[in-house]
Amino acid sequence: MDLLENKISVEFSKRFGSSGVIVKAPGRVNLIGEHTDYNQGFVLPGSIGKYIAVKIKPNSIDKCRVYSLDYNSEVQFYPNEISNLFPHWAKYIAGVVIEMMKDGYQVQPFDAVFTGDIPLGAGLSSSAALESAFALAINHIFDFKIERRDLALIGQRAENIHAGVQCGIMDQFASLLGEDRTLLKVDCRSLEYERIPFHPDNTMIVLADTLVKHSLASSEYNIRRQQCNAGLQEIQKIDSKISSLRDASIDLIEAIKLKVDSKVYDRCKYVVEEITRTTQACEALKVDDYVTFGKRMYETHYGLSELYEVCCKELDLLVETATTVTGVYGARMMGGGFGGCTINLVSKDNTESFIESVGEKFKLRFGQLPKFYLVEISKGAHVVE
Ligand code: GLA
Repeated sequence: MDLLENKISVEFSKRFGSSGVIVKAPGRVNLIGEHTDYNQGFVLPGSIGKYIAVKIKPNSIDKCRVYSLDYNSEVQFYPNEISNLFPHWAKYIAGVVIEMMKDGYQVQPFDAVFTGDIPLGAGLSSSAALESAFALAINHIFDFKIERRDLALIGQRAENIHAGVQCGIMDQFASLLGEDRTLLKVDCRSLEYERIPFHPDNTMIVLADTLVKHSLASSEYNIRRQQCNAGLQEIQKIDSKISSLRDASIDLIEAIKLKVDSKVYDRCKYVVEEITRTTQACEALKVDDYVTFGKRMYETHYGLSELYEVCCKELDLLVETATTVTGVYGARMMGGGFGGCTINLVSKDNTESFIESVGEKFKLRFGQLPKFYLVEISKGAHVVE
């Protein structure tokens, strides 16, 4: 039993007795393909070895009782109940229950305790991991046999409808379908995916956490979605068959340039370029061409910083500094933006000097060191046997 499993087991026994199953769902990194999922483009995430762990069993009362170890707080709710008075973490869980019931699954009351070791607000999708852990756990204890792709969609709806963030499918998908040493190239239109092996001998994924919590992220995120839609509507006046930015060409984006707000033009240009870039980057990765892959990562960063405008000065400095360090293939901000981490592809021999140089520059400018994580692409959500 690892630390997380042990912590929830001790607490679970105290509150609800000893039987129960443990389910774990991980956070994710995304190598490339940012802000493309809700435009039906491609993404390239992988699940990481940091998890939300839940211990759960059906109970014989009429309410669900869920205890969060990290917030030291218990919430009780009927399976079809959700309230604005719930703490934010409980909305994700009650949201999952409600969305499952909408799909016709009769979720019965249960008891659960959960904890996690995914850093919060760092852009590693702790909320998607929470939704995915509960979706898989409930599916397991009531033997619903829901496919993982559908569990991901349930988690996404919980977040869209009940937590108010219009997120795409990437995070829940990566948490539920991730695999050890494998990245997922997901087509966010069809939800088909290709597994791309990722276990380079000499290259590391290093995350540098600005420690800036992305508090702006949810409101600005929803605004980006509206801007993409505004661009799409203008494109549809030219070609009504186009149903998402996935199908738009750069020529079409140029054709609407003078008809839309300049921000809308910038957002759409970034998305169309990023979708193409992601496909190119995946091809490079398949032949272990990290140099090309890294270049695409930098291009993504500049697009996110200048056209999509979801960066901050801390993220920009981390990437700028990474360009000056030997052995760094590529670096970029990762996830929704406005804080959180950069993802860096660094040759193993240079990892230490990377951490040192980037840390030093960051401290000089912002007065504190960023946090670094060396990440392994690990097993996706699973029931602990
Ligand atoms: C957040 C969302 C994802 C995705 C990324 C940006 O993590 O939850 O769906 O849109 O931002 O790529």
